[in-house]
Amino acid sequence: MPHLRPFVSAVVRPIPITTREERIAELDRAGHNPFNIRGEMVSIDLLSDSGTGAVSTDQQAWAQRADERYAGADSWFRFRDAVRDLVPHEHVLPVHQGRAAERVLFGALLGPGEISLSNMHFDTTRANVERIGAEARDLPSPQLFDMHSDAPFKGDIDVEAVKAVLDGPDGPRVKQIVVTITNNGGGGQPVSMANLAEISAVAREHRVPLVLDAARFAENAWLITRRDPDYRDWSPREVARRAFEYGDAVVASLKKDGLSHEGAFIAVHDPELADRCEVDIIATEGFRTYGGLTGHTLEHLAQGLREVLDPHYLADREHEAAYLADRLHAAGVETLRPTGLHAVYVNATPLLPHLQPKHLPDHALTCALYREGGVRAAGGGLFLSTFDENNELVTAPPFELMRLALPRRVYDHSHMEYIAEVLAEIAKNPERVPGYRLTHNPPVLRHFRCRAEPITP
Ligand code: F0G
Repeated sequence: MPHLRPFVSAVVRPIPITTREERIAELDRAGHNPFNIRGEMVSIDLLSDSGTGAVSTDQQAWAQRADERYAGADSWFRFRDAVRDLVPHEHVLPVHQGRAAERVLFGALLGPGEISLSNMHFDTTRANVERIGAEARDLPSPQLFDMHSDAPFKGDIDVEAVKAVLDGPDGPRVKQIVVTITNNGGGGQPVSMANLAEISAVAREHRVPLVLDAARFAENAWLITRRDPDYRDWSPREVARRAFEYGDAVVASLKKDGLSHEGAFIAVHDPELADRCEVDIIATEGFRTYGGLTGHTLEHLAQGLREVLDPHYLADREHEAAYLADRLHAAGVETLRPTGLHAVYVNATPLLPHLQPKHLPDHALTCALYREGGVRAAGGGLFLSTFDENNELVTAPPFELMRLALPRRVYDHSHMEYIAEVLAEIAKNPERVPGYRLTHNPPVLRHFRCRAEPITP
């Protein structure tokens, strides 16, 4: 069967068409940081897949019926039931976005000097561990660093490494294990069910709570049905439910697989933990039946959580990402393998052989993609590097990847075609791409806030 996209546009938004000269001026104004570029100067925006998707006509229809009461609104119960249809946890608490869920839950689980272990903390997840004075330690599967391996579950946590920490001198200080599904910081690679089962057994044995960071739970479930023969005949919803059973607690940004522009939840079994989180949420986010969200959003989410596990939708998402990756490979552009769903990660190292790590190749490629095509993406290297006081690189990142994040239900084949063509052009004359050095280098959340300038190596 040829692939059939399972939806059409119901409302459209024109996109800005800019000139190369305008984009060069905008890059200068933005301090060569894509996060500082104005939206009106971006034609195709692949900066994030978070809160950037299109809602469906059914989501809009439900939102028309939103109940905006302060407490106990109908919209809250519809949202809560949609979450409870997925998670086995008794206590579901709403918050305005994923990082608020992290702040509240970690605030209840961690203290200064304690340790959080993870397959990889997403950048805000790490920030929310570190602001408590705790340590965020990443223990990804070693397979993750083999750029060319097609291993199906490179997002796994390294269970042996976790055991070594728990059984070693730092063991008593470990107060949470966070498994991020899919592993966004690790190239959007999925986590296997077997890995979840193993790490949950280890966590239980050591009495450390296992937290699932389930921002892309539906995409992880889909990739399990596609890559693990044991789950081939399961529906994505069945797989998602099984995965959630392994978490003692869940934090889930719903700006991704909630198919919404905002929202997140915390889910826990432990009533005492729920109580502590609830107090924090009422003080800082909103009452426990809205958590800073409008009834409108709660309705978008209740319906979004139904739509996101539709196998036709998920197959389409896989198809689009694979199409972009295939077009890039045909142009000799290397991407992280195997391709996931929420993004295609371009390996800047082989594409820009004239640049050394100190020239920040993934950042250079990201700026070139914007300059040449008006396509905004983000490099991942800056977040994983360290610098000295003169902004000279001290530790290079494990990989120099540019993330092309794919907003849900927004771009179509022709946009993918365009992105691939722009990158193919860059790949024909890579030596024209200048390197970069940082001119402003904040120590925390650097990639969001830095400024840089091009340099000719
Ligand atoms: N966890 C993961 C795995 C994420 O990818 C994100 C956000 C968060 C937590 C935080 O959620 O944005 O709702 O506060 N990721 C976005 C991205 C920003 O572009 O990857 P949030």
